[in-house]
Amino acid sequence: AKLTVNPQKSHRISDKLIGIFFEDISRAADGGLCAELLQNGDFEYNGERKGWNAATAWMGIEASSSSVSSSSSAIISTENGVSVNNPHYAILSSTPIYNIGWEGIVIKCGAAYEVSLYARCIDGKKKQLTVALVDQEGLPIAQAKLKVQGPDWAEYKAQLVITDKYKGELGKDTRFALLPKGEEKVAVDMVSLMPQDTYKGHGLRKDLAEIIAELKPRFVRFPGGCMLHGQGLGNIYHWKESIGELKDRKPALNIWNYHQTRKLGFFEYFQWCEDMGAEPLPVLAAGVPCQNSQPNAQGICGQQGGIPMAEMPKYVQDVLDLVEWANGDPATSKWAKMRADAGHPAPFNLKMVGIGNEDLISTDFEQRYLMICKALKEKHPEIEVVGTVGPFHSPSSDYIEGWKIAKENKKWIDAVDEHYYEQPGWFINHQDYYDHYDRKAPKVYLGEYAANGNNELDRALAEGIHLCNVERNGDVVEMTSYAPLLCKDGYHNWNPDMIYFDNSEKIRLTESYKMQKMFGQHSGDTYIVSSLNLPAALKKYVGTSVVKVSKTGKTWLKVVNALPRTLKLQVEAQGAGAGNKQVEVKARSAEVFEL
Ligand code: AHR
Repeated sequence: AKLTVNPQKSHRISDKLIGIFFEDISRAADGGLCAELLQNGDFEYNGERKGWNAATAWMGIEASSSSVSSSSSAIISTENGVSVNNPHYAILSSTPIYNIGWEGIVIKCGAAYEVSLYARCIDGKKKQLTVALVDQEGLPIAQAKLKVQGPDWAEYKAQLVITDKYKGELGKDTRFALLPKGEEKVAVDMVSLMPQDTYKGHGLRKDLAEIIAELKPRFVRFPGGCMLHGQGLGNIYHWKESIGELKDRKPALNIWNYHQTRKLGFFEYFQWCEDMGAEPLPVLAAGVPCQNSQPNAQGICGQQGGIPMAEMPKYVQDVLDLVEWANGDPATSKWAKMRADAGHPAPFNLKMVGIGNEDLISTDFEQRYLMICKALKEKHPEIEVVGTVGPFHSPSSDYIEGWKIAKENKKWIDAVDEHYYEQPGWFINHQDYYDHYDRKAPKVYLGEYAANGNNELDRALAEGIHLCNVERNGDVVEMTSYAPLLCKDGYHNWNPDMIYFDNSEKIRLTESYKMQKMFGQHSGDTYIVSSLNLPAALKKYVGTSVVKVSKTGKTWLKVVNALPRTLKLQVEAQGAGAGNKQVEVKARSAEVFEL
């Protein structure tokens, strides 16, 4: 077959087409990207999930909240807690307690681990606590002593180093132990065990973060997904509850039915973006919870609703404060000062804010959504406002209504977030999807998409063909992000996902990951028109895209071959600036070539 490339025919496209969507789903954050090795170190698990309580993941603690105990076992208390947002803590006297981590604590020989906890003496003035990593027989692998002093909460730290006596990775049965000495009572909370070696020293699991960075994402959308608008009004993610000292952050149940410590909060998300050279795209709820609904006593989502209108000015102010917090001057802004106090005096250079996540497009939604978008754009015209067009694409009535609202309010809404999960065949048969989009309307952020179905390679090839079509339409589609990014084995809330992992360093990268990486590493800012001379019945199984990078002058040809046979392509460049080339792409694979 022949591919004719015409460098004379080209158009500017977005230079941030490939980004990532990070949501705390399938244990992506706690127990995932957040490097914390202990589970429920804040003792804040509770009846939010059936069978969970403040002692979940701990051994040796009586689960009741009573301060009276018949035995010497540790108990849970809430009297005079370390913070109003973290009221539960454990009281130990003479018997040890153990944390099982995320069903195992994987540690490496030769590595160092940082222990931290808050503690106070309840009776007596001093108490010795040994912190240790122990093996399945309870024998210490590494240990250190802490001397707790006085009746007030204070933070204590120690380091545990795994000596060379141990080989490789120790895993499933390793436990973290708090071993008290003597009978006096001591209160402990916010117990943490972190590897010393984290991604750029900022608390993220290094192996996972490095693999994500290899995608070369231009932006990161966070913290969700449905997780951000939450299940009911009380479950909306408020960014202010995710910053500051961990003990003062507000842990919460997430919509995927597990506990978030918020240790991976907005500060950490922004820092992560900076560490990867990606732009932050924080998304805040549009004043309504997931599908505008409130769970009733039986947990079934019922009445529609949003934040009461009387409370909306405060909510809108929270949105405006985010820009202040991220970009403001610590000398004049209290929010910016919080950022500086947390260790980042320089602005985070926030340029985009998302409002809403595939919400049900109702009157409740529209009122609140427009109120937020308008206020944000008026106060911060420099910020790109990324709205939403409801769940799923045409012919859904939400999508049609969502687009109508966005077009009518273009003054306040710069782009909208579209979501779709479809069979590979849908992507193959809708290659002109964006060709007819109104170029004068708000831009498109394809914030969630993936091909579903049983065959992993089919899915990736369909996504690759779609991305070729997206690049051609990179003048109207501004950004894309595959969803979801991460899934911990055994904790699937969603299927398929891009990267599968467990507690160990065995990470499984899917074919979709490889496809995203190819596009992320070979994106451009100019689309060069090309034409493929193959019969239509075959052509729809082949994606081609030629892009140029102005900065480096490089021209990339990406070919996605979903045909069951090798594709031999004679590339003929018309005019100056590119030569001819013969390329081959194996059956059912994708490749990139420099032209
Ligand atoms: O990506 C998983 C979920 O899919 C997101 O939370 C939600 O926005 C969508 O329905």
